Order: sequence, then C-alpha cells, then structure tokens
Amino acid sequence: MASIAQIEHFVSVEDLSNEQVLLLLKRAFAFKQGIKWQPPKKQIFTANLFFENSTRTHNSFYIAERKLGMDVLEFDAQTSSLQKGETLYDTALTLSALGVDIMVIRSGVERYWKELIQSSTIKCHVINGGDGSGQHPSQCLLDLMTIQEEFGEFAGLKVAIVGDLVHSRVARSNMQMLKRFGAKLFFSGPAEWYDQEFDAYGEYLPLDELVGKIDILIMLRVQHERHDGSQSFSKADYHRLYGLTKKRAERLKKHAIIMHPAPVNRDVEIADALVESAKSRIVEQMINGVYARMAILEAVISE
Ligand code: CP
Repeated sequence: MASIAQIEHFVSVEDLSNEQVLLLLKRAFAFKQGIKWQPPKKQIFTANLFFENSTRTHNSFYIAERKLGMDVLEFDAQTSSLQKGETLYDTALTLSALGVDIMVIRSGVERYWKELIQSSTIKCHVINGGDGSGQHPSQCLLDLMTIQEEFGEFAGLKVAIVGDLVHSRVARSNMQMLKRFGAKLFFSGPAEWYDQEFDAYGEYLPLDELVGKIDILIMLRVQHERHDGSQSFSKADYHRLYGLTKKRAERLKKHAIIMHPAPVNRDVEIADALVESAKSRIVEQMINGVYARMAILEAVISE
C-alpha cells in the first residue's frame, strides 16, 4: 500500500475512499510528530481564494503551505478582475495559465468546484475550503484526526451533531464520513434547522436525551449569515433550549469530549466556560488543522 494518498482534487468527502482517508490521517499524524518532509523537486505555487470569511481554514492552509515549502499567492477578490465581472471559472483558468499548481477555494456557492475540476484547460488541483452549506472536507479530516487521537478508532463511537444542521457543511461532511467508518450518529437542534436528509445517517433527539449517552458532542455554530430572518431565537433562548449549558455538560460521560468547528458563538451554542474546559477539544481541532491540511496538500501534489 502507498504511504501517501494520491488525490487529484480534494473537494468532497464523497469522492474519497476509506483507504485515502486513512492514509491522509496517518500522514497528518506523522507531520504532527515532526516527520522530515522531502521538498518537491519543482517549485509549487498555491493560490488561496477565500470568497467567504475565514480565520482557521485560510490561515492554517497558509501555514501548511509554507511548512511544505510552497510559494503562496494570497488572492484578493477586492483588487482582482472579479470586480470587472470576471467569473470564478475565468479567474481559475487564468491562475492555471500563470502556473499555479493548487487552488484552495472557499465560496458561498455550493459545488462551485464542479466546473473547475471538469475543465480540461484548468490544470490546477482544487482543494475545497468550504462551499456554502455543501461540504467542508478539510474540517472533516481534522475532526477525524482529533477523534482518532482521542479514541483510536471510529467504529461504535456515539457521536451527536447538534445545532444549525441544515446550513452546516461541517455536519454534512462529518456525518457522511463518520457513518462510513462505523460511528453511531445522533442529531439535535431546532426543528426548523433539521432536514429529512439527516434521517439516513442517524436519530434526531432532544439534547437532554443525548448528553448522558454519547462519546462525542459536536456543537455547530449558528450560521446567521445563511439565515433569511424567518427563524430567529434570542441568544439566551437558543442557549437554554439547544445549547451546551454548564448544567447539560455535567451530565456528559467521564470520557466524553466536546468539539466545535469554530468560530464559536460563546453562550449561544456552547457556554463560555466550556470552550476551554477539560472536555473541550476545540483548541486541539485548530492545532490538528495545520497537520491535516499539510497531508491534503501533499496528497494532491503526489497525484
Ligand atoms: N472551522 C472553520 O471553517 O473556521 P473558519 O471559518 O474560521 O475557517
């Protein structure tokens, strides 16, 4: 078996085989342990194109790229020809023609990547840094890494994904991958933000019924930017009804952990005091993000 996954485009967890995911995880842990990296013989240019705001994904890809010795173009949509009407496709075509090897893209448009990876003229590898409410595959990999680091395996783990489910690309990527690896999934949160598509992956239950029986609690950010204003809760009401309050956290099993992709709305989906508590792995998720993204970058240039 190869030691490095070879992946042309990293756009959706649906396109990854189990073997590729396990190789990526192995490599991410190796990077975390400080394995020596053999720089590629040719110069590698990456371009980071973020059309939605980001702190973790954008900066951890930048750090991962620099750690791997890549040359990084930080694409600025505000000063680019997008302002003159250029499309994302034509921007990608141009960057490819200029010699960019890898494009890391975040966009609010679901499946924006489809026309880029289908193009026979665009030669860049595409890495999806999040597409609307669609997929967030690099977040999924760092979440798997955090879970594997804690529990060693995925099969049989009871995982609850809680909150603004319908708008969450993290929920979609994680539920698909965790179910595939044998975890038992549960969902919770406002009925307005639940959709039948989740039925195929797990059981929808009130959070109070779940907290005492799960191993991993993944709290999701309330995504105000994707709401149309018709569904609104006060911060206090959301926290009381659907959030991880200090009282609910007291009922978690001794070994259970709390995860959140962040950014966190403190005292909304999770109590402020729990964000950096002993059960929280939120900081570890951010740390693992750099190593998971190093593994992804390495995999696409190894293709
Ligand atoms: N978790 C995550 O995607 O965070 P950013 O939006 O800050 O990248």
